[in-house]
Amino acid sequence: MLPDLTGAVALVTGGASGIGAAAVRQLSAGGARVVIADLDLAAAEALAAEVGGTAVRCDVRDPLDSERAVALAEQAYGGLDVALLNAGVAGGFASWDDLDLDRYRTMVGVNVDGVVFGVRAALPALRRRGGGALVATASLAGLAPASATPVYALTKGAVVQFVRSMAPPLAVEGIRLTALCPGFVETPLLSGMVERFHESGFPLLTADDVAAAAVELARSGEPGACVICQPGREPTAYAFRGVPGPRGLGEGVRPPTRTPVPGTGPATVVRD
Ligand SMILES: NC(=O)c1ccc[n+]([C@@H]2O[C@H](COP(=O)([O-])OP(=O)(O)OC[C@H]3O[C@@H](n4cnc5c(N)ncnc54)[C@H](O)[C@@H]3O)[C@@H](O)[C@H]2O)c1
Repeated sequence: MLPDLTGAVALVTGGASGIGAAAVRQLSAGGARVVIADLDLAAAEALAAEVGGTAVRCDVRDPLDSERAVALAEQAYGGLDVALLNAGVAGGFASWDDLDLDRYRTMVGVNVDGVVFGVRAALPALRRRGGGALVATASLAGLAPASATPVYALTKGAVVQFVRSMAPPLAVEGIRLTALCPGFVETPLLSGMVERFHESGFPLLTADDVAAAAVELARSGEPGACVICQPGREPTAYAFRGVPGPRGLGEGVRPPTRTPVPGTGPATVVRD
């Protein structure tokens, strides 16, 4: 738990805009020292000047960029306690026949590789501190079908399963990995759509709402929690149902694994 952020060191990817920028401001206001890692260096530097943080150009598709951002946090502030792996891109495709392969690779690269490489880069630094928190920004599209944006849904579903699978062994080391699953948020990511939401009367979250949930997850989130944010509702951990196991599976019987995984309990299957 990080009940108090005073003196904590945080890294926020995609920290120059929207949810990430709001999280940077909240973390800084709470006493944390923040590294803002973003593809848009100018915007990251402007925010760093505002909050007294540090900016770094980082393309989360490149594992070396994530490593450099973590190294900067350690050099500048002596360690790393929190990483919000939040950089993301969205967008639909006009039609499935029209799938643009470059855009597909970009979306998978930023939304999936970015989280995996971010965890990979942050872990050694968190271990050197004896623990910490990792929060990946997924989406409601990782939990429910999103037919207008199936590739985006694919990437966010991947983040949800990655977080659920990685969280138990990391928790044994005192590292809490969680996911944030917001509905629609009024940020530049929704550019061109915001007016249509307003006209239709469909409520939007603010970046501040979602950032507050992210900061709370960093402070005290349960490992593996995938927290839904929706307008007018308190952030809530999604209650996953177990999946059916082999019929008649004995209590405590688990499938063998090639490598023992610390911290994992009985398989989350429904027994009958
Ligand atoms: N806005 C929404 O409705 C919504 C809903 C659910 C989840 N999300 C997720 O929230 C996260 C933040 O999105 P946002 O709404 O604040 O959008 P945003 O566009 O305001 O911010 C995204 C940030 O990511 C940065 N970025 C993009 N590609 C990058 C890369 N390759 N490397 C590093 N940085 C990169 C951008 O420069 C930008 O600063 C994303 O993961 C997004 O998928 C957004």
